[in-house]
Amino acid sequence: MGRVEGKVVFITGAARGQGRSHAIRLAQEGADIIGVDICADIATNSYGMATREDLDETVRLVEKEGRRMIASVADVRDPQALKDAVAAGVSALGRLDSVVAQAGICPMGTDDPEAFLDAVTVDLNGVINAVQAAMPHLSKGASIVATGSLAGLVQGSTDNPDNGAGGLGYSWAKRAVASFVHDLSIVLGPKGMRANAVHPTNCNTDMLNSDIMYKIFRPDLDKPTRDDALVAFPAMTNMGVPYVEPQDISDMVLFLLSDESRYVTGMQMRVDAGAYTLRRPQAPAF
Ligand SMILES: NC(=O)c1ccc[n+]([C@@H]2O[C@H](COP(=O)([O-])OP(=O)(O)OC[C@H]3O[C@@H](n4cnc5c(N)ncnc54)[C@H](O)[C@@H]3O)[C@@H](O)[C@H]2O)c1
Repeated sequence: MGRVEGKVVFITGAARGQGRSHAIRLAQEGADIIGVDICADIATNSYGMATREDLDETVRLVEKEGRRMIASVADVRDPQALKDAVAAGVSALGRLDSVVAQAGICPMGTDDPEAFLDAVTVDLNGVINAVQAAMPHLSKGASIVATGSLAGLVQGSTDNPDNGAGGLGYSWAKRAVASFVHDLSIVLGPKGMRANAVHPTNCNTDMLNSDIMYKIFRPDLDKPTRDDALVAFPAMTNMGVPYVEPQDISDMVLFLLSDESRYVTGMQMRVDAGAYTLRRPQAPAF
């Protein structure tokens, strides 16, 4: 028996990165997947989004694990598109047990107010839309996970004014995701359902491996490369590593969707190699 055997999980941003990793890891442990991804670029976001081919590759990798995946192209800013995608998935797979609302963008490096709004509507509204699309299909035992970020828990990261309007929007949206999940857990508790947030530090995906991130980490260089950024990345964590891998986040998601965590709810689960405690030392006990 897998740790999420027979469950059906709805994942946003499933085409690549952490979303693909979650789909594979959950499939390895017996889950079927309903997945969506925008598969199109967003103008204010300087690095590209996933493609339809990426989404198809996630389906192939899930099927390689012997599980099913119903995939649709949908923008998390479009509530009806998400409702349709979930309905199609439930009709094919028979049920829905869990949500991993994790599609995200980080449109840094521009002062365009649209970048602020895009970060908020994708990173916050997109989470709420995903939960809302799933809710009619969820019942006792359901588990919801939303992906925040260390950037929502500490100040002076993406919200540094030098990072532009989209960086501020990113931090604000991630803070709001943390708050949303906290209060969502209160209303879900009496129904026997749970909600938790996962907050990664630097994670080894296309979001981090982008020219704009290299520039944020190496403002001293004109056109820094990944090798240049690798020198600076470890300063983010407290364990000497430049980033965590998508699989590290997937293992936390797997725990939160499994019955092993059946009484874990309303939590802000950091997978950050000590990045948070480094910046937020605890006040002394009196
Ligand atoms: N990579 C990091 O360093 C890092 C750190 C902290 C938090 N996060 C968060 O982790 C989550 C996953 O990001 P990732 O690291 O895998 O990056 P990624 O860019 O590789 O993956 C994001 C995925 O979301 C999809 N997406 C973006 N906007 C969408 C939309 N409007 N509708 C549907 N799909 C959309 C993209 O196409 C892509 O497949 C995001 O919420 C991100 O903010 C990432």
